[in-house]
Amino acid sequence: MEVNSSQVEHIPVLARTLVEQINLPQDGVMVDATIGQGGHSLLFGTSLGSDGVIIALDVDKKAIRGAQLKLKDLACKVIYIYANFSEIDNLVREQGVEKVDFILADLGLCSSQLSDSEIGLSFQTDMPLDMRIDKRLRLSAADIINKTTQKNLADLIFKFGQERFSRRIARFIVRERQGRPITTTGQLSSIICRAVGQPERKRKSKIHPATRTFQALRIAVNNELENLEKLLASASGLLGVNGRIAIISFHSLEDRLVKLNFKANEKAGIYKIITKKPIVASREEISSNQRARSAKLRIAEKT
Ligand SMILES: C[S@@+](CC[C@H](N)C(=O)[O-])C[C@H]1O[C@@H](n2cnc3c(N)ncnc32)[C@H](O)[C@@H]1O
Repeated sequence: MEVNSSQVEHIPVLARTLVEQINLPQDGVMVDATIGQGGHSLLFGTSLGSDGVIIALDVDKKAIRGAQLKLKDLACKVIYIYANFSEIDNLVREQGVEKVDFILADLGLCSSQLSDSEIGLSFQTDMPLDMRIDKRLRLSAADIINKTTQKNLADLIFKFGQERFSRRIARFIVRERQGRPITTTGQLSSIICRAVGQPERKRKSKIHPATRTFQALRIAVNNELENLEKLLASASGLLGVNGRIAIISFHSLEDRLVKLNFKANEKAGIYKIITKKPIVASREEISSNQRARSAKLRIAEKT
């Protein structure tokens, strides 16, 4: 089924908390490393004057087009760059900007991307098994699923999905692909359900049996952890004194990288950590936006 992803409105998570924690001067420069549909940037952009700048990055062209529409009436300048935030250092300097006041990364995906059949991430709807948010990437999820050895597949599902049935799932995948290639999300999801359905039911797990494997594949296809590490490594050099970095993450592997980076920078006297513990969404926010359920926000300030 073709899903019109532009109809799906993305609600920015932890928006009120972020606005309370970040004070941008009217002529401030902010990098929104994950512009998405521009929800967060709209909130910050309204407090920027005509000398303010938002440098907006995304690896999804459709998301950039959506953000352009949403932010078209802002007084500040918005520079859109179709690029990966792992390159943040060069991208910002290429704009003639040396220091910024705020870096925001709201990791993961927009609601519209989850249902976008061109990206192919959903196990609820049958779609081509792709998962590349950035279509310039070489390997799709189908390439990985059909070409990786059983052992490497099991390791990948375990490492990035923290899936305890990884070996069993990899075995079922390899058995299936010997008959015919695995090309759709529905096909993969049903193999996983067959592999772990029964043990999962015994465990009375609330999440869909395919959740962890799909997460693992998405992380691998889009090099998510590597990109985040590069962003974190460059950020301290780009922030001006008292500038802040805020990262919203959605799984423990990402949150751990953020926590370790902030701690190391604090130890080196480069950052002051603003959020001793990650900020999570209130019950009210979660009840109106399910995506907020697993969000964790960490903020640090350049000293
Ligand atoms: C959760 S959405 C951001 C939503 C946005 N804060 C809003 O309020 O509309 C995450 C966005 O990050 C983008 N993205 C993911 N990884 C990226 C990367 N390495 N570099 C740049 N953009 C990335 C995705 O394409 C997606 O549009």
